[in-house]
Amino acid sequence: MRLDALPLSLVLSLLIRVSVDHALAAPSWLGQPSSLPSRGLHIPLLRRAVARRDDDELGRWAKQQKQYVEAKYGRPGSTTSKRSTGYNLLVNQGLDSSYYGSLAVGTPAVAYNVILDTGSADFWLIDSTCTQNCDGLPVFNPSSSSTFTNGSKAFSITYGSGQATGTLATDVVQMAGFEVNNQVFALCSQISSGLLASPVSGLMGLGWQSLSSSGATPFWQSLYEGNVWDEPVMAFYLTRFLNESNVNAEEPGGVFTMGTTNTSLYTGQIDYQSVPSGSVNYWTLPLTNLSVGSSSVTLPSGSSSYAAIDTGTTLIGGPATQVAALYALIPGSSPGTGNYEGYYTFPCSTTIDVTLSFGGKTWSISQDDFKMAQLSGSQCLGAVFAYSGLGNGDGPAWIVGDTFLKNVYTVFRANPPSVGFATLAADAQSSVARLGVPTATIGAVSASVTGSGTGRTLQNAALPHAIPRFAALLLCALSASSFYLL
Ligand SMILES: *[C@@H]1O[C@H](CO)[C@@H](O)[C@H](O)[C@H]1NC(C)=O
Ligand SMILES: *[C@@H]1O[C@H](CO)[C@@H](O)[C@H](O)[C@H]1NC(C)=O
Ligand SMILES: *[C@@H]1O[C@H](CO)[C@@H](O)[C@H](O)[C@H]1NC(C)=O
Ligand SMILES: *[C@@H]1O[C@H](CO)[C@@H](O)[C@H](O)[C@H]1NC(C)=O
Repeated sequence: MRLDALPLSLVLSLLIRVSVDHALAAPSWLGQPSSLPSRGLHIPLLRRAVARRDDDELGRWAKQQKQYVEAKYGRPGSTTSKRSTGYNLLVNQGLDSSYYGSLAVGTPAVAYNVILDTGSADFWLIDSTCTQNCDGLPVFNPSSSSTFTNGSKAFSITYGSGQATGTLATDVVQMAGFEVNNQVFALCSQISSGLLASPVSGLMGLGWQSLSSSGATPFWQSLYEGNVWDEPVMAFYLTRFLNESNVNAEEPGGVFTMGTTNTSLYTGQIDYQSVPSGSVNYWTLPLTNLSVGSSSVTLPSGSSSYAAIDTGTTLIGGPATQVAALYALIPGSSPGTGNYEGYYTFPCSTTIDVTLSFGGKTWSISQDDFKMAQLSGSQCLGAVFAYSGLGNGDGPAWIVGDTFLKNVYTVFRANPPSVGFATLAADAQSSVARLGVPTATIGAVSASVTGSGTGRTLQNAALPHAIPRFAALLLCALSASSFYLL
């Protein structure tokens, strides 16, 4: 498809509806307290004196009684919350540029679409005061929620592709069948051009609290700390449409789960690698190998090869030296210029098997993803670009975005902090595509917790923390030039 045949603004303003599918209610361990069972209390004691065998029986009985009471009134130290799992069907927006899901805010709950971003840790929505770059986007209306409170503190976050500023607030937030009361979030009155495209109203950060600009506990982390998940995990499967020729602005995007993984979407074991201690802010993993075919790029050791695993970034960014070394392994490649500064081009006819390793495991990037676009002629643009980092050396060296994540099933595990990858099921894409582009529903809540952390003021926020989001930049580049998609 020739992309410049479609005005981007038109493509992106097509209406999309998203669905939230809700968790099955977890079995509740805890019934209403009632009187303790008294039946049979004497019998085992009497039998105890009679025979050894009866001693065993008493043991079994005693154990049973203990379990019964513990189950009924809660084991010491265990949570009394019910445990659960939930999932959310995603939308793939703008040819694998971004992936969004939906959540609901307020009382009564109203649904909004948000980009799901593991590379930042703040949740924000635009509100009715937003006049800058919010045209046509659905906005949050504080006056229609009876549980809304104004935090009256300034909020600002900077992404590579723009900025969002506003004020902090709290309200009830629901997603994937979970609810957090008193969730701190920001209502933004100004956002940079291109940061959001209709029908998306904001962004849900899924990184750790230490990364958050507001200082508030992220939605996911309140759920994890509130012990309401079956397992301390969030997982993503992201679809690929870059390889197709007739693509809509919105396509089925994949599945996001909380509290569990979706076993129909991957095969074999999940290979977990630890987030290095001291780097639990992004979902950080050391990149251990980067290769083209059987030739490898020499990677520096330690934090100079740390990578943020980031669902909110479209492509893969890395240090200029190693990115140059990567393309040096691709015959006929050359550095891009102008809009393509930092990118590289190479003949589309080249067969390229780029792999990334985390720990001992190696994962391939499909050519469909690596050959991000065909320029006029026979040159292709590579999806790995040189990125100059966050400037002050405190950010990750690499940003591993959707170009890679479309090729694996990804699990973000809170305890112990780690990220796992697994091989996709062969029918993952067809099973999700069959479901169509999801439509918004609010649904029932299966478990809820109370949020914590009031948020610090803007002045104290350690900015810039957030990772660049390249979707907007990429889309601008695409719309500004004559491009052919593969
Ligand atoms: C919240 O308070 C701030 C400052 O006190 C004010 O500027 C803003 O308009 C308020 N927002 C809402 C939604 O009431
Ligand atoms: C594009 O990639 C998806 C995901 O791997 C696959 O299901 C689909 O068949 C591919 N389409 C083409 C035309 O190769
Ligand atoms: C890196 O990966 C390549 C290709 O899979 C392999 O040949 C090489 O031995 C690996 N290097 C290291 C240091 O693991
Ligand atoms: C798992 O993924 C399938 C698509 O293969 C989807 O139909 C199903 O609803 C998902 N279930 C959960 C619990 O995520």
